[in-house]
Amino acid sequence: MSKRSERKEEHLALAQMFFDKEKNNSFDQMHLLRPALPESKVDLNSIKTNLFGKSIAAPFYINAMTGGSKKSYEINKNLGRIAAKAQIPMALGSASILVKEHEQLTSFEIAREENPDGIVMANVNPETPAEDVKMIVKELAADALQIHVNTVQEAAMPEGDRDFRWLDNMRSIREALDIPVIVKEVGFGFDESSLIKLKNNGFDLFDVAGQGGTNFAQIENGRNKSDISYLEDIGLPTVITSLIAKKNNVDFFVSGGVRNPLDILKGLCLGGKMVGIANTFLQKLSQDGSDGLEKMIADWKEELAVLLAVYGQSDLSNLDQIKRYYDLPLKSQIDQLF
Ligand code: FNR
Repeated sequence: MSKRSERKEEHLALAQMFFDKEKNNSFDQMHLLRPALPESKVDLNSIKTNLFGKSIAAPFYINAMTGGSKKSYEINKNLGRIAAKAQIPMALGSASILVKEHEQLTSFEIAREENPDGIVMANVNPETPAEDVKMIVKELAADALQIHVNTVQEAAMPEGDRDFRWLDNMRSIREALDIPVIVKEVGFGFDESSLIKLKNNGFDLFDVAGQGGTNFAQIENGRNKSDISYLEDIGLPTVITSLIAKKNNVDFFVSGGVRNPLDILKGLCLGGKMVGIANTFLQKLSQDGSDGLEKMIADWKEELAVLLAVYGQSDLSNLDQIKRYYDLPLKSQIDQLF
């Protein structure tokens, strides 16, 4: 197995080892006000929406995780099939490995084969040459591309990138493509000045991927048996990075630490067009198999439709109008940053 494939498999193993279903995060410090008399009715149609010109059954998606190794072939096969059945979008893990190891393509392609008509997002690192990204997008028939920016993860890896001047290449990638490009964090969130810089450079869609769920500093520390655990707390919580994106009037997806349908509702209320889930789904797949994850996603759709009715909503259009309040620690962070 190549070093890159090995790293992908170690990420999968450590994401499982560090997964904590009960972990508290910023969503717990955000509360939505509920009408006692909502005068509404549960309807699965209420959560249907459109993305990238396709209809989807719910406003949440399977976020980028894997590809480029033996285990990831099986995972992507399952995720592709489940996403197709549930009619929700999915993102593949970073395909930048294909630049050096094109023979790994099948571990990504399998998701598209299982999901020929649904939304599949490809994912690359910000240094991947634009011509290679064009090829990856074509080979996977991707509906959109995620470019991940992951400085903290790179910093935590001894073999990681040490040159973070990425913007010029990111622009070349965007200019080479005719599909939507999403700039995505990987669990440490976006600050305001980076969002503004990206917006001024023509990027208009973001996946905020804030702190509160999977922590790549922790995963890399686990891989390298090093102790740079101080890096694990330098991210922006998902609620805060979402508020920053909303304030700057950009289109964005909310992700990072989503554990249940109430977190999804909160992400939508924060102004996210969609809400992304990575490790919670991966761990369900690993514990209860493909049927287990399929059922979980079907249950989440139902539960989200129930929540919409509980909050007096008949569709997704006015969720950002729902009143909310914050616990003091989060409120104090918000007050200092805004
Ligand atoms: C990831 N994530 C990720 N992100 C990305 O942009 N490219 C990638 O290749 C990967 N790989 C990856 C592997 C594994 C095993 C996990 C669990 C996650 C990050 C992911 O898309 C997401 O941004 C974070 O995991 C935060 O979301 P959750 O896990 O808290 O829902």
